[in-house]
Amino acid sequence: MALKITVIGTGYLGATHAAAMAELGFEVLGLDVVPEKIEMLSAGKVPMYEPGLEELLARHVAGIEGSSGRLRFTTSWEEIGEFGDVHFVCVNTPQKHGEYACDMSYVDSAFESLAPVLTRTALVVGKSTVPVGSAERLAALLAEKAPGDVELAWNPEFLREGFAVQDTLHPDRVVVGVTSERAEKLLREVYATPVEEGSPFVVTDYPTAELVKTAANSFLATKISFINAMAEICEAADGDVVKLAEAIGHDERIGKKFLRAGVGFGGGCLPKDIRAFMARAGELGVDQALTFLREVDSINMRRRGHMVELARDAVGGDSFLGKRVAVLGATFKPDSDDVRDSPALNVAGQIHLQGGQVTVYDPKGMENARRLFPTLGYAESALDAVRGADVVLHLTEWREFRELDPAALGEVASSRIVLDGRNALDCGKWREAGWTYRAMGRPRA
Ligand code: UDX
Repeated sequence: MALKITVIGTGYLGATHAAAMAELGFEVLGLDVVPEKIEMLSAGKVPMYEPGLEELLARHVAGIEGSSGRLRFTTSWEEIGEFGDVHFVCVNTPQKHGEYACDMSYVDSAFESLAPVLTRTALVVGKSTVPVGSAERLAALLAEKAPGDVELAWNPEFLREGFAVQDTLHPDRVVVGVTSERAEKLLREVYATPVEEGSPFVVTDYPTAELVKTAANSFLATKISFINAMAEICEAADGDVVKLAEAIGHDERIGKKFLRAGVGFGGGCLPKDIRAFMARAGELGVDQALTFLREVDSINMRRRGHMVELARDAVGGDSFLGKRVAVLGATFKPDSDDVRDSPALNVAGQIHLQGGQVTVYDPKGMENARRLFPTLGYAESALDAVRGADVVLHLTEWREFRELDPAALGEVASSRIVLDGRNALDCGKWREAGWTYRAMGRPRA
């Protein structure tokens, strides 16, 4: 009989995982402790913007016309316990307030609620990004509190926002930390389709599985900060970091990806994951192994400050008082509405606090941005944001911004100065339209 799957937590990770599991043919029951989220998902609506996810939900959520009916949602733990053969825990592990370490309270409370309802034989699979050592502790919790024959596996998730559906259905790799052949066999069954299509299936122990995730994110963060450090050098030496990245990227050992210099990385994962990793290394007595991540973090944060300086320079040098600044982009990356630790909003906020009149526009992130930074100005379009601006900052590389007509924007701007914080605009096109174009890590021209 086909496996029945539950998914605990319906954020980016959980909602996508639940829909993907239904797409792979399983009966799926998703749980969240927030009833509003369950209501939305049960109606086929996604509580965030993620390309393709709503379509995928519509194909499977029970009660939607024409759907497979394989996907349902609930707030009842008992129902979850009765239903599932395999339970995926997909809750959030944000950074702890005032500390580097990650906040395990959502994971802990999910396991505390799940354990007592597991009366049948079941496999619990942790997907959340956790400090190494957590799986062992949580396995002991299950052994103590679950009445049924229950095992734990750790199966980190590598999905990128904006590509969550694709990354979940066609993962680069599936990594499973297991302690028995039975657990491995069950997970091979769950991931049979992507593995048949060629996704490598890596079997390992708990600590390695937990570490793969934090190591991967640390490597990506390091790559971005490396190229941003090169941007600092290029700026001082009149070099061009975009050309430099292209040229070193031709070396296959280095590769072209994740070498885009600019205002740096943000979001709900990379910044907090490298910090949690440093905190955990400290607890393990090997903090020296990761001191370089401190530098990675500070190079990254420095880019935001540098962007503010470039903007101050562009409006006359001394201060932002009485100056209008248009900010294009609020989300931490394009094709997402996520503004968590967004470099764009950070820069906008800093300028606002220094007395500048900031107007932000973003294709999808306006609602979240308003909630986080209610005191910033917001416009309904890029053109409206640019109207009357003394400088335009391009901080999130949405396609919509690349397709803007610089001549039309030039008509409404107060000064034609654009600062490209993502090295993504066509500088020739902007310069032709009379704009002074400056980018991070590139010559002034
Ligand atoms: C990341 C990992 O990529 C993913 O595997 C993991 O599961 C979760 O964390 P995500 O947070 O969605 O995914 O974003 P990602 O695409 O990695 O981008 C992170 C940040 O780095 C963004 O702010 C992006 O703008 C920035 N970035 C990315 C750069 O500044 N330069 C680059 O070359 C690439």
